[in-house]
Amino acid sequence: SPEDDLRNKMREALELSAKLFHHVLLQTDYGQHARHYLEKRKITIEAIREFQIGFAPSSYDFLLSFLKGRQMNEEVMEKAGLIVKKETQSRHRYFDRFRGRIMFPLHDAQGRIVGFGGRLIDSGQPKYLNSPETVLFHKSNHLFNIHRARPFIRKDDQVILFEGYMDVISAWQAGIRTSIATQGTSLTSDHIKVIKRNTKNVYLCFDSDHAGRTASDRGIELLKNESCTVKVASVPVDMDPDDYIRRFGATSFREEILGGALSVTAYQLETLKKNYALEDSDDRMQYLNEAITIISELPVAIEQDHYIRKLSEEFRISLDAMKEELRKKKKQKH
Ligand code: UTP
Ligand code: MN
Ligand code: MN
Ligand code: MN
Ligand code: MN
Repeated sequence: SPEDDLRNKMREALELSAKLFHHVLLQTDYGQHARHYLEKRKITIEAIREFQIGFAPSSYDFLLSFLKGRQMNEEVMEKAGLIVKKETQSRHRYFDRFRGRIMFPLHDAQGRIVGFGGRLIDSGQPKYLNSPETVLFHKSNHLFNIHRARPFIRKDDQVILFEGYMDVISAWQAGIRTSIATQGTSLTSDHIKVIKRNTKNVYLCFDSDHAGRTASDRGIELLKNESCTVKVASVPVDMDPDDYIRRFGATSFREEILGGALSVTAYQLETLKKNYALEDSDDRMQYLNEAITIISELPVAIEQDHYIRKLSEEFRISLDAMKEELRKKKKQKH
C-alpha cells in the first residue's frame, strides 16, 4: 500500500542518516569536537559503535543534500522528521532539523530506527532535540534501548528504568544490559504497557534532582497501579546514574545503588524522614505518626507487620504500642 511504501522510504532515510552521522563523527574533521567531547565523558569507541552515535554538522543542508544525492525526496525526509519546512514569501525551503548535535539513533522494539535524539555539545537550548511525532515515532511510548535490552530483561525478569540516553550508555559500558530510558522524566501508561510485555519487576533509577524525584513519585504510583513490583534505586543528591558510574565505577553502582534499592514503602518512609529532625522528640513522634499512616495503607497484612516491626526496632518503641496505633489508623479509614 502507499502507506507501507512511505514508511519504508522513511525508514530508508533514517537508516542512511544514522550511517552518515556516525561516519561524520568517527571519520571526518566535522566530528572532531564531538569526538573530543565524548572522550571527555568517557564514552568508549565500543559504545559509540554499538549505539551508532553520530554527529550532525552545523549546516542547514548537510543531510538534505546528502539524501537528495541518494534520490530521496523532501516530503519523505520531512515526514521522517529529518528536515523542517520554512515558508518564505512565495516559496518554501527545507533545512536540516538537527544541526551541530551529537546524534543518538532511536529504535523501535524490532530494532528499526524511528528517530533521533540530538545533544548540543556546548550549552544552549534545548540540550536535547528529539525527532517530532511521526508515524514511526511516538515519544509517549518510546523506550530508548528496548530492542537491545529486551532479551536480557526477559532472561533476568527485571528492568532498570533511567531518564536519559547517557545513563543507558554508561550502564551498558558497565556491563549492565537490562536498562532502558524514558526520554526525560515522564513515564506514561503506554511506556508501562511496553515494559509489562517483558517483565513486571522494575528498578526505578531517575536523577536525584527535584525533577527526577517528582517524576519518580509519579512513576511509582503508575507502576503500582499497573501491578508492577517497583524497587527504587537512588543515586546521591544532584547526581544522575551516568554521573555516578563515571565517578564511582560499575561495581559500586551494582552493589550500592542497585543492591541498595528500596521497596516502595521503605523509599516512602526514607523520603518522609527527610522532613523531620529526628533528634527532636516532637518531630520524631510526628514522623512515626505519618509513617504509621503510610503503613496502614498497605494492602497486605504481612507487609504491614514487616514495616511496623522495623519501625518499632528502629525507634525502640514497643511493638504493642505501634500495633495499637496502626489499628486506630485503620479504624479511622472505615
Ligand atoms: P537530563 O537533563 O537528565 O539529561 O535529561 P542527561 O540524560 O543527564 O544528559 P547529559 O548527561 O546532560 O548529557 C534526561 C533525558 O531527557 C530528555 C533526553 O532523553 C535526556 O536523555 N531530554 C532532556 C530531552 O528530550 N530534551 C532536553 O532538552 C533535555
Ligand atoms: Mn574540542
Ligand atoms: Mn534529569
Ligand atoms: Mn540526567
Ligand atoms: Mn547526565
